[in-house]
Amino acid sequence: MDFGKERVVALVDMDCFYVQVEQRINPELKNKPCVVAQYKTWKGGGIIAVSYEARAYGVTRNMWADDAKKLCPDLQVARVRESHGKADLTHYREASVEVIEVMSRFAVIERASIDEAYMDLTASVQQRIKDMTALEIKPHHLKSTYVQGFPQNQETHAALDKDEERARGLKQWLDSLLSCPQANCAELNLAVGAILVEEMRSAVEEHTGFRCSAGISHNKVLAKLACGLNKPNRQTVLPLGSVPQLFSSLPIGKIRNLGGKLGTSITETLGVENMGELTQFTKVQLEQLFGEKTGPWLYDLCRGIEFEPVKPRQLPKSIGCSKNFAGKTCLATKEQVQHWLHQLALELEERLNKDREMNGRVAKQLTVGVRIAGDKRANSFSRCCALARYDAAKITVDSLAIIKSLNTAGNHQEA
Ligand code: CTP
Ligand code: CA
Ligand code: CA
Repeated sequence: MDFGKERVVALVDMDCFYVQVEQRINPELKNKPCVVAQYKTWKGGGIIAVSYEARAYGVTRNMWADDAKKLCPDLQVARVRESHGKADLTHYREASVEVIEVMSRFAVIERASIDEAYMDLTASVQQRIKDMTALEIKPHHLKSTYVQGFPQNQETHAALDKDEERARGLKQWLDSLLSCPQANCAELNLAVGAILVEEMRSAVEEHTGFRCSAGISHNKVLAKLACGLNKPNRQTVLPLGSVPQLFSSLPIGKIRNLGGKLGTSITETLGVENMGELTQFTKVQLEQLFGEKTGPWLYDLCRGIEFEPVKPRQLPKSIGCSKNFAGKTCLATKEQVQHWLHQLALELEERLNKDREMNGRVAKQLTVGVRIAGDKRANSFSRCCALARYDAAKITVDSLAIIKSLNTAGNHQEA
């Protein structure tokens, strides 16, 4: 098997997930421009999820609901529930468990967030190929599949709509697979992987009512990238041969793990914008600039090659909650800080107890983080301590002690 093409890896991501959850609860919202917003007090609330119908009007995440209504007067607004004075995401977490449960019937999965999961399909693909009577794959097995980079060398068929174009590309690619040497062709493996993912996505919709998109390729980075290429309700195969063209105009920040600091530092250090431009540097150059781990990783990555394994894990690694306050004056006294720490601790206690019951595990460490308004980092400050008991009062006292050093007013004062 060719280098970098040994595995079949897929990433499945739910389409506008929180919106779909709300639409299932209230079917009147289905097929309409719709958003999920949290809190109502300021400008109708902040939008955290947007249906594809609403995106057509230019509505985006982080807009205020009132502003979004100016773009789309018929916009339906579903509200996130509140408890302990803060947003309560329980519904979405429970819906996530339903989805993960269906996916796990098909493959060993790595839950990557509330609405997405990676899976290594290499073994399942080999098994399916063994079971296949003919190695020919028909387009009707891949009804919602795009193949990135296909159709190739097309004369511009302006008249083709998106699905005709998709079908043409798929057929062209499948025809090219007929010359694959037996069962040992990387691209044939991707095609069979795509069939498995079509089946998995149908099962998810059948059992939960939720639709999703997926990417199928040889590693996690390419699978994640592919997933976003033809949303919603579609899946995209990304053969390694289509990577150079795709990367030639792909901003570095669009790649998994390069969205933040590392991506910015690459762009600044090397003076390049697109992923493809990284191929001009030698492995030694990249190693000198970015270190012996990151350098070689980048050298492979800009060629579409990556080896991070899919780790079998269905449960979140940590359980956490947070609340934002608009400006420092919102949280000015010790009593206020104590009050909100207690509310957060109450939610934690509930969720920790539930997790212990459902999953038979016990958390041992408590991390307390604070982000000061304006700071771009996830945390301005973060410390941890032992978590001996699931007890909101104790968690409140311990967290207050941890963040006390941040108080510049001094202990004797109320402020
Ligand atoms: N989410 C959030 N805040 C963020 C990112 C995500 O609250 N900064 C929530 C969203 O509300 C969303 C879910 O996590 O419904 C999944 O996020 P994501 O997959 O990025 O977006 P979707 O809303 O699912 O939309 P898409 O169809 O583009 O995947
Ligand atoms: Ca999603
Ligand atoms: Ca996601």
